Amino acid sequence: MCGIVGYIGPRQAVSVLMQGLKQLEYRGYDSSGISVLNASSIKTFKKIGKLVNLESIVPEKNRAKVGIGHTRWATHGKVTDENAHPHVSNCGKISLVHNGIIDNYVSLKDELIKKGYTFDSDTDSEVLVHLIHYYLNGDPVSAVQKALERLDGTYGVGVLFADYPDLLIGARNGSPLIVGVGEGEMFLGSDASAFIGLSKQAIYLDDGEMVVLTSKNYKTINRHNKIVDKKVEQVEIDTTENLKGDYPHFFLKEIHEQPDSIRRAIGGRLLPDFGTAKLGGLNLDKRDFFDIKRIHIIAMGSALYAGQIGASVIETLARIPTQVFDASELRYSNPIVDKETLFIAVSQSGETADTILAVKEIQNKGGRVLGVINSVGSTLARLTHGGMYIHAGQEVSVASTKAFTNQVMLLNMFALVLGRMRDVPLSRGKDLVKEIMAMPEKVEEALKCGEIVKEIAYKYKDANSILFLARGTNYPVALEGALKVKEVSYLHAEGFSAGGLKHGPLALICPETPSIFVITEGEYFEKMIGNIIEVKARDGKAIIVTTSSDERLKELADDYIKVPEVDELLSPLVTIIPMQFFSYYISLALGRDIDQPRNLAKSVTVE
Ligand code: F6R
Repeated sequence: MCGIVGYIGPRQAVSVLMQGLKQLEYRGYDSSGISVLNASSIKTFKKIGKLVNLESIVPEKNRAKVGIGHTRWATHGKVTDENAHPHVSNCGKISLVHNGIIDNYVSLKDELIKKGYTFDSDTDSEVLVHLIHYYLNGDPVSAVQKALERLDGTYGVGVLFADYPDLLIGARNGSPLIVGVGEGEMFLGSDASAFIGLSKQAIYLDDGEMVVLTSKNYKTINRHNKIVDKKVEQVEIDTTENLKGDYPHFFLKEIHEQPDSIRRAIGGRLLPDFGTAKLGGLNLDKRDFFDIKRIHIIAMGSALYAGQIGASVIETLARIPTQVFDASELRYSNPIVDKETLFIAVSQSGETADTILAVKEIQNKGGRVLGVINSVGSTLARLTHGGMYIHAGQEVSVASTKAFTNQVMLLNMFALVLGRMRDVPLSRGKDLVKEIMAMPEKVEEALKCGEIVKEIAYKYKDANSILFLARGTNYPVALEGALKVKEVSYLHAEGFSAGGLKHGPLALICPETPSIFVITEGEYFEKMIGNIIEVKARDGKAIIVTTSSDERLKELADDYIKVPEVDELLSPLVTIIPMQFFSYYISLALGRDIDQPRNLAKSVTVE
């Protein structure tokens, strides 16, 4: 949550910071602000709302060569101009941007008020700028260190000093911070998109580390003021992906990108002759694979639902008991960790605080965690023992689409690898590889339902609530479909197992509450037909999404959406497409802020 950008070098800092904030806006968009240094004087501009509001108050021409910027997702303190970052010390000589949460800010604030400091905001972050001022005694690095030592909680910070024009300080503990290393210029970012297109070389700070930047140099130090040698790494973010192209929204663009992103996920990873996949980064040897007796998948939100699909496929193919855990719950549940349990963390951003903290808890107990991650070089990617990058490309829309499908695809491939070492014969493995290779085309085919789904979504835009019902591997698709509708359209939606309908949710059925059924051929088919009839008998509307050509479905459906037939295990990759379109078009019909829904942020870096 919240994005940080910082710059020091020969360019006009204002334009670098504004460009960085634009790239970071997906991390939070309640308010934004910048501070720049002009002739030993800090000028700060901050404004609630989208970045355009800040743009309207920032002077176009400004000669400052150093500055910091922030885009906020409110945690402590309402969305007001005062609570927006940067926060400036009472003397006006220090400015600070902060991500994270300072748990002991109330006692620190009391202490500072007693010392005569006054506060302009209700944020936890403001205490830090006053603390730095309090400790400043000719040495800004030591003042920041002393102030940070007083904090309980998490931080990623950037600090600017009026009296030190060639200095920018960054520090990290539990909230990511990256240094962009240029020629004669340096950048700070909460992630590499802060300096996308400006620097491809980066240093990833670890917890407890600080960086001291001048335009020409960087110095990384630890809590004990010892220099830490950090590797300068190549950043892999493609600038062109950040453009919407002809699409009105990133959400729609990213839905349409799925055939290509799936191609990237499977490219070079399949072994058709052996009916399996080759996943290079797992960091497991053959023996390790045989030692796995249980798998625990941990994630949040859409990644959790992708994990649930993965669990079902792993159990089917590899017969390894697999459970899925909400990371925010797992962390505090005193998890049972042993050598025979493999943990897998699934995350698009690789920066989700709940997932990171759960991983750390497991690792503290000696557990082994693999990652299924999109964001290369992210905290989780670096923390985990090994894993699989999903290669979905940058996902800008807050609502996840192509990352979800690629997570499902990678978990399918991982299940195949495990399965082929255990229960799955070569012939079945070969069939599955063929099916996986066909998925980009099948998803392309599924995308043709967009116009039909648009009509259906407009028809139901005034619904009271929308139910999503499915069974088996597609049950998590129902949960994900409901989440997509909730988060973007703000309509109430809920996913249930179709079997669970009779145990309570059936009471919700009425003409104003349509149900979307996801039905595939196989085990559950007849049971699903029974569930549709139950809903129709109570005057409920049935929107049917199916891979099957069974004529009964058309007769029963109030609205009917056909997607291509695929192997049951891979079917979520096509059945999710109408759900994504439905969420998009119903939100469009309701005039919602599709790429940046209210109250949300792309990357949830606080607990
Ligand atoms: C929903 C959505 C969120 C994320 C969740 C985890 O569309 O995007 O539910 O899936 O916040 O985020 P990551 O995958 O970055 O860990």
